[in-house]
Amino acid sequence: MRIDIVSVLPELLESPLGHSIIHRAQKKGLAEIVVHPLRDYTHDKRRTVDDYAFGPDAGMVLKIQPIFECFQELMAERTYDEVIYTSPDGELLTQQLANQLSTKKNLLILCGHYKGIDHRVRENMVTREISIGDYVLSGGELAAAVIVDSVVRLIPGVLSDETSALTDSFQDNLLAPPVYTRPADFNGWKVPDILLSGNFAEIEKWQHKQAIERTKLLRPGLIDPKDE
Ligand code: ADE
Repeated sequence: MRIDIVSVLPELLESPLGHSIIHRAQKKGLAEIVVHPLRDYTHDKRRTVDDYAFGPDAGMVLKIQPIFECFQELMAERTYDEVIYTSPDGELLTQQLANQLSTKKNLLILCGHYKGIDHRVRENMVTREISIGDYVLSGGELAAAVIVDSVVRLIPGVLSDETSALTDSFQDNLLAPPVYTRPADFNGWKVPDILLSGNFAEIEKWQHKQAIERTKLLRPGLIDPKDE
């Protein structure tokens, strides 16, 4: 998978994309992630990417021209399955959406700007707007990093078997069951006996029951009444 990210603050993306699983996915050649500084597509000395909004509201808005030129350059190289804009008014990022995006070949992500971007970009070039939650961030870079992380880890081969995404919370609309490691008894705090039993069929049953109970308790809205 190839992901191009267009940003006014590319430095903000360096660390989240340069470590751990995302870094490994890139080293293994399973994901190629390229960040494009929007200022590289300006033509004035001050490398201006924003301008005053039309109308009475104060605040700066990202201009069309650098975005348009950047997109034109990128789109001459490849066809994008989705052109994503990160915004609090977008559709909410869910595991289901991450699964869907993980099957794509080329994604282009435009990081939002705190006061917004010229709406014509959203009307004419963006195919999907995604929010990572009902709160407002100062910019879209952290949202883009969250989207990329949730998607890239689902690409086959990125996670090793023991960290398989299939056991994640939300993958089947259930929270993950609790996990433990050694020692089995820490100053009297004990690991449930069933996990030490070696009976894998019973362990799986126990884990499923725990997943259902935890979901009912912590996130009841996730359970489809049809499944009860
Ligand atoms: N930009 C600002 N807030 C955001 C959010 N919650 N999700 C995605 N992009 C954003």
